[in-house]
Amino acid sequence: MLTATDLHYSYGAVKALNGVSLSALPGEITCVMGRNGVGKTTLMRTLMGTYRMGAGSVRLGERDLSRLPAHRRATAGMALVPQGREIFAKLTVDENLRIGLEARSDGVRRVPDEVFELFPILKTFLKRMGGDLSGGQQQQLAIARALVGGPKVLLLDEPTEGIQPNIIQQIGVVLRKLVSERGMAVVLVEQFLDFVKEFGHRFSIINRGTVVATGSTSELHADLVSQHLSV
Ligand SMILES: Nc1ncnc2c1ncn2[C@@H]1O[C@H](COP(=O)(O)OP(=O)(O)OP(=O)(O)O)[C@@H](O)[C@H]1O
Ligand SMILES: [Mg+2]
Repeated sequence: MLTATDLHYSYGAVKALNGVSLSALPGEITCVMGRNGVGKTTLMRTLMGTYRMGAGSVRLGERDLSRLPAHRRATAGMALVPQGREIFAKLTVDENLRIGLEARSDGVRRVPDEVFELFPILKTFLKRMGGDLSGGQQQQLAIARALVGGPKVLLLDEPTEGIQPNIIQQIGVVLRKLVSERGMAVVLVEQFLDFVKEFGHRFSIINRGTVVATGSTSELHADLVSQHLSV
């Protein structure tokens, strides 16, 4: 279980996170929602350790990761699929995937076959340049690269943003498999309400750097949505 408690983060004078707490259980997709600019990406980067939090704690099971930098949180079992994908356009699909091996703590130096079982398209495109893939394929590559490290907790920052509907659906099915068959904990930043309702288990809505509502996705009622989300 991932437990983040009372996280704070500021960009100079701009306070982006003001005491956010969040937990994510194995076997569940926990959705982080909220309008543009409320702090969702800052939260993901703070959980991963790419941003060093001003205060608060991040624990994975019994282990306190709060003081660890991102690469050590990665070997501890966390992976982030960043907003905008950040794949390497001038590297091949194979090379992009191999970068994910850096996060492995077991010494495996080969991309696991299960990644290609989840995303068969990547196997046929191994020698293709990342930049030559479609947006949806690049998103699949970014998720696959995170999975290469064998994470226990997968953080995804708006993976459906700007992606065609059939690939959005495929991504949802993969996330469902990861939680139900492999017991992973998934934290999903998502503004697409239908996707949250179809695939998510629990939600937290953020507004101005604070959690303003949490619950089961079956409780995402119209008043909550109109109050805190853009639809
Ligand atoms: N590098 C930065 N320097 C200063 N302020 C920043 C920086 N990055 C983000 N912010 C501010 O911090 C706040 C939270 O930004 P963040 O990117 O976390 O929001 P978000 O919820 O992910 O937005 P979006 O839905 O557009 O992705 C915003 O007010 C933003 O303007
Ligand atoms: Mg963002």
